[in-house]
Amino acid sequence: MARTAFVTGGTRGIGRAIAERLKADGFRVAVGYAGNEEAAKACADEVGAVVVKGNVGNFDDCVRAVKEVEDKIGPIEVLVNNAGITRDAMLHKMTPQQWNEVIYVNLASIFNMSRQVIEGMRERGYGRIINVSSVNGQKGQMGQTNYSAAKAGVIGFTKALAQETANKGITVNAVAPGYIDTEMMSGIPQTVLDKIVGSIPVGRLGRAEEIAACVAFLAREDAAFITGSTVTANGGQYMLG
Ligand code: CAA
Repeated sequence: MARTAFVTGGTRGIGRAIAERLKADGFRVAVGYAGNEEAAKACADEVGAVVVKGNVGNFDDCVRAVKEVEDKIGPIEVLVNNAGITRDAMLHKMTPQQWNEVIYVNLASIFNMSRQVIEGMRERGYGRIINVSSVNGQKGQMGQTNYSAAKAGVIGFTKALAQETANKGITVNAVAPGYIDTEMMSGIPQTVLDKIVGSIPVGRLGRAEEIAACVAFLAREDAAFITGSTVTANGGQYMLG
């Protein structure tokens, strides 16, 4: 029987590509979104995903969203924590609001969502949790103390939860994308973007589908021996030992 997957931030950008790929791989797919109704409708119509609205930075929203999805299409067996935002500024200009929004949406969300599904996964003895981190959580990025801290935190969370669940049939992994051609890039000044692309050995931005392929691999049943790992997909921009 088809397994159920939930992708947060799944109506646009990398999340939408993940939703499409998991659907093509035979999953029943639900996606979460924060507020863009047009993208949500398009995702429901074009991908055939169940869409639920909510703020992943808010615990109670996650309780409600997961219940809604599970009532409609069954227990979540694959959770992709993808939702993320940027609020870039040098630290000397960063406001508490810019810091807090990024920490809640990009990091607290991983707890808020995983907490909803972990008991069921443990009971059923099966699960896949895939957390979307970032190259900037691995290497740090000027203008992103908030984002880099949150995305590094995602990797720490992944390793800790992987240890808690390794003997329960549940794998927990991270994917760390580099710079991917999505709306998130639109806020970067062109001169800065040119510098960034110049630092990518592959010579271009990544494609959302290339990240979706990594997620789809980790979501497979036969990826059972991979846990606590970080799959790095950044065009060679940052190479880890
Ligand atoms: N790479 C290289 N150089 C960068 C840089 C970057 N990512 N970001 C800023 N710089 C450089 C600028 O080119 C500039 O250099 P010069 O002084 O030599 O001209 C210097 O740093 C200061 O930058 P600004 O003049 O733009 O300063 P500002 O205070 O107006 O803005 C900023 C600072 C908000 C950080 C802005 O530069 C910016 O948005 N930078 C992009 C930051 C970035 O990489 N964000 C990633 C977004 S995508 C993402 O997060 C997804 C992911 O997971 C990869």
